[in-house]
Amino acid sequence: MSKKGKILVTGGTGYIGSHTTVELIEQGYEVVIIDNLSNSDAFIVDRIEQITDIRPKFYEFDLLDTDKLDNFFKENADLVGIIHFAAAKAVGESVEIPLHYYRNNLVPMINILEAMKKYKIENFVFSSSCTVYGQPDELPVTENAPVKPAESPYGYTKQVNENILNDTIKSGANIKGIALRYFNPIGAHHSGLIGELPKGVPNNLLPFITQTAYGLRKQLSVFGEDYNTPDGSCIRDYIHVVDLAKAHIVAIERLIDGKNKNSYEMFNIGTGNGFSVFEVIKSFEQSTGEKLNYKVVARRAGDIEQIWADTTIGNNELGWKATKTLDEMTLSAWKWEQNYRKDLN
Ligand code: UFG
Repeated sequence: MSKKGKILVTGGTGYIGSHTTVELIEQGYEVVIIDNLSNSDAFIVDRIEQITDIRPKFYEFDLLDTDKLDNFFKENADLVGIIHFAAAKAVGESVEIPLHYYRNNLVPMINILEAMKKYKIENFVFSSSCTVYGQPDELPVTENAPVKPAESPYGYTKQVNENILNDTIKSGANIKGIALRYFNPIGAHHSGLIGELPKGVPNNLLPFITQTAYGLRKQLSVFGEDYNTPDGSCIRDYIHVVDLAKAHIVAIERLIDGKNKNSYEMFNIGTGNGFSVFEVIKSFEQSTGEKLNYKVVARRAGDIEQIWADTTIGNNELGWKATKTLDEMTLSAWKWEQNYRKDLN
């Protein structure tokens, strides 16, 4: 048992989960991971060990399996906190198979909160998303902006899970929770040993860029240059995944140390800066020296025009601030792509 206690990371072999696990271990926590490997690989546990010299205990099962989950909690009733990442996350796919998203993303949340009540585990951090805001009326968007009707079943599961958490806490359960509303996580650990590992054709911008530069994809499609933005392409608040991972440590410690102001809180986790798709491409080309083959095509259905975070509340309350530049993000993503492909050969 480590000095700082044991934390469960669900989805700990995934993109954000693995980076958060590394930061937790480096801060002196003992980490146990539950993951069903539906969108990740077991070798990530080896990589976490390579980076930190400590191997987190890995339980491979599905959070829908309540028997296995109960056995897990019997074995780990000494948890000081839970960070819940495990979920399906492809916006387009969620429109095609909504029932999978509702079952897979909502039921585990319920199962975990029930177990927390049963085993008296108090501290919970939930992986939410800026998708809960839709297209905000005012930018930058603050935590007090209204939650807009969800544009996809995926987005709806984030909204409902925030409500499930809040309602459970309000009902008198001895649970404290923080929802972190992430903007667009990109980049990879500086070691180049872990990073984003999309299965199949990437939906997201950065993996598509790095795979195109590597020669796995012929061309990046830029979805629209006729938006009402300075260069016509969409604007997002891209945040380095390691900055994002660190926000989770600060959030769980806020709860463990009892520094939270309310039993349920939510914070924007972004940089506060918006960058367009063309600016991301330019950053990638500048930071890596690679030329990217791209062409502008029609808008992608469901994309919002622009969003970036007001990070004032998060920065002040959490005492956390994103530190890494866009160039560091794009360069680290490229380093990871190259390392990963090299190891496959
Ligand atoms: N884009 C392209 N070409 C691509 C992929 C993306 O031009 O091949 C553009 C998109 O149109 C968008 C920007 O790059 O303007 C970012 O797109 P991503 O798919 O990387 O990210 P999104 O902002 O669409 O989605 C992210 C998360 C979702 C979350 C959503 C909330 O991936 O989980 O933010 O807005 F729901």
